[in-house]
Amino acid sequence: MNKKVKKAVFPVAGLGTRFLPATKANPKEMLTVVDKPLIQYAAEEAVNAGIEELIFVTSSSKRAIEDHFDKNYELEAELQKKGKTELLKIVQEVVPANVTCVYVRQPEALGLGHAVLCAQPVVGDEPFAVILADDLINCGGNCVLGQMLSVFNDRQCSILGVEEVPPEETHKYGIVDPEESDGRITHVSNIVEKPAPDVARSNLAVVGRYVLTAAIFKHLENIPRGAGGEIQLTDAIEKLLHDEQVLAYRFEGKRYDCGSKLGYLQATVEFALQHPELRDEFIAYLEAGFGQQAEKLRCAGND
Ligand code: UTP
Repeated sequence: MNKKVKKAVFPVAGLGTRFLPATKANPKEMLTVVDKPLIQYAAEEAVNAGIEELIFVTSSSKRAIEDHFDKNYELEAELQKKGKTELLKIVQEVVPANVTCVYVRQPEALGLGHAVLCAQPVVGDEPFAVILADDLINCGGNCVLGQMLSVFNDRQCSILGVEEVPPEETHKYGIVDPEESDGRITHVSNIVEKPAPDVARSNLAVVGRYVLTAAIFKHLENIPRGAGGEIQLTDAIEKLLHDEQVLAYRFEGKRYDCGSKLGYLQATVEFALQHPELRDEFIAYLEAGFGQQAEKLRCAGND
């Protein structure tokens, strides 16, 4: 019988050093793009794809994430009292009532692979999704995880969300060795974490979306520390490839690396340009202030 993916793991226990000092006391995943924290975009993507259980792998400095998805009685009572029904609805719909949130702790930031392994007792022996909230992907109605789950439902194997990156940036990603392709789906013969551009076998990079079979856990338990001294999910996927088929899926949508300052700024501007409430005023602001030439932008930056 075909298996269905009902659980998604959100590793949110990283240190977010590229965003210090903002991330000293606040989780990187609570950084806001226009009016929603990154982790909420990720949770909405999972829910839209039909996921029923959200498993957050957190750490001691990430309590704000639990609070964000919890009920806030005081706030709701206040909004109710003041008749602010629209806002009340927004607050109540952060996570739908039929979706369960579970929190597990990663005691030490030993790497993404280790964070995923921490979720094993909750995931059990089922295929599951992994979403990295700092890779924000804008794809209109057809969310990336939904696209990947359609492939999973058909192929019943692990699927990696990939995109082509500039060849000089391979050292920032897990890079797959692609074999034959069928439309957006590519067979994978190998995967390497953060290869230098001169040794990378392609520029097809895994970005923060995975659908994995539970067989990944035994490899996560056994692999040594890899790049950066961390337990790397990529290294466990490389082992998994020896036992099972793993496919790469070139998703439809635009990704923003919100773990970097530049990617975060790009997402903020582009999401604001699509926001129904802000769009017109924001465009008017940009046109008035920065419409003409780059010189103006440079001057504004120097003010
Ligand atoms: P990153 O390497 O992008 O995040 O990990 P980071 O380590 O928090 O950020 P920088 O590089 O220091 O700025 C990708 C994802 O994996 C999670 C992070 O929270 C992020 O969502 N992660 C990483 C963990 O949950 N635990 C870890 O030990 C490492």
